[in-house]
Order: sequence, then structure tokens, then C-alpha cells
Amino acid sequence: MTTQSQPTIGVFDSGLGGLSVLGALAAECPSAHLVYAADTAHVPYGNKTPAQIRARVLAMGQALINEGCTTLVVACNTATAEAIEALRAAHPNMPIVGVEPGIKPAALNTQSGQIAVLATAATAKSQRLAQLIARHAPHKTVHIIPCHGWATEVEALHLSSPAIIKEIELLLLPLIDQGVDQVVLGCTHYDFLAPTLNMLIEGKAQLVGVAGAVARRACQVSGAATLTTTQGNIRLVATANPERLTAALPALGLNALSARLSKSAQLMVAD
Ligand code: DGL
Repeated sequence: MTTQSQPTIGVFDSGLGGLSVLGALAAECPSAHLVYAADTAHVPYGNKTPAQIRARVLAMGQALINEGCTTLVVACNTATAEAIEALRAAHPNMPIVGVEPGIKPAALNTQSGQIAVLATAATAKSQRLAQLIARHAPHKTVHIIPCHGWATEVEALHLSSPAIIKEIELLLLPLIDQGVDQVVLGCTHYDFLAPTLNMLIEGKAQLVGVAGAVARRACQVSGAATLTTTQGNIRLVATANPERLTAALPALGLNALSARLSKSAQLMVAD
């Protein structure tokens, strides 16, 4: 049951990717109610223009506020890079947490001074990523890899398909052979490729994800971190095919979420 003291955190992404952040939030922040919204009618975001991404982010943010959310998490690097400022400007009093590639931890941990960033095409060419690298890794060699079609493979739950393996072998392994020792997961969808990436990297580099850090921050700003109230519930909504969200949880290793779902996934209008 929703009470005034129990915040509701709305988490959204283009599709399944942000479930990696939702999983971390469910573990880190048990007292908050969580609403996960997938913009499946418009997935993927990574090949859209900045203006198209901004329009979707503003629509999703408003729809989650209409659902009663008191904190928003933009669980998408692409949406954060292109639109978090516009979302904050539209809702100046709402706590809003975004997701940015873990350039800072990668720069701190690299021994070789070489970092690879796996990202969507939109994030790869964004000014925000360039600024992040300039701020946190100015003296490192940072290889930015636009990973065309990877989010779509994850949407299809092809987490270890021949196509994905071929892409990793083509785009990433040569850089690992050249000395890259930190691989930044710059798209929330790619967290679900971690087992396949680790299998192919064979311990020669470390994967850097930020889901845990984002979850801790969101819990803090929502006010839920200090609550000792009963466990919050979790709702899943999507702009198309909501049933796919629930069906995907086992394949994504998120069975623990199923037990906390308050009802079946619902359609959400976000125009
Ligand atoms: N999961 C998203 C990200 O973190 C977007 C993937 C997509 O829709 O292209 O960038």
C-alpha cells in the first residue's frame, strides 16, 4: 500500500536495459515503491536524433509523474546524454538521477591507461560523453565503440547469440589485445551481456558498470534510504507489449523481482 512517507521511484529506459538498474534498486532500496517503464513502442533510442530522444524522455518522465512517482531515474545512458537537462528544466523540483558511463572508476582503476567504452551510436557521439572523458580521463586513451544493434539483440534476449559474439570479437577483442584493461558498459542494456563479454575477455580486462552506484544515489535522493517501513512493491509498465517485460525477467537473471510484482505488467500511454 502506498503511504505518504514511502516514496515512489520511477525508473525508465527505451526497453529492457534499465531493468539492470531496477534490479540494483530493488536490492539497495527495499522501502521504496518502484515503477519501471519501458518505452517499447519507441525502442531503440540509440539510433534516434537528439530531438527525438528529448521528446521521448519528456513524455516518459511526465507519464511516470502522472503515475505518482516522486523521484525519477533515467536508466538509459542515451537518454541521459541527450535529454536529462531538458527533463530537469521541465521538472525543477523533482529529484532526477541519470546514468552515465563509468569513465571515472575506469580511469581510477586502469593500469595500462587504456579504456574502451561500449555505447549506443547516440551516446558515442554525444557532447556529454566527450565532456565526461575530458573531466575524468584526460590523460588516458579512451576508445569509444558505437555498438550498432546490440540493444536490439538484448531486446530479443539474444544475450549470447553468434551475432553478438561476432561483434565482440570484431570490435572489442582487438583492443583488449592492444592493452585495454577497463571495458565500460555505456548502455544499460549491455549489463545483460556481461556473462558473454567476460567469457570472451577471459580475465584480460574488467567490466565497469554503474547500476549499483545509480541505485544508491536514487535511494538517497528519494528519501527512502533512511526509511525502515515495510517492503515497497514493484510495478512494470510499457508503451507496447507490457507482457514481454515480465516474461523477460528469468532470462535476464531477475527472478527475484517477480516475487515483488504487485500485479501484471500494464500498458502506459506516454505521448
Ligand atoms: N539502454 C539505453 C542506454 O543505456 C538505450 C539503448 C537503446 O535504446 O538504444 O543507452
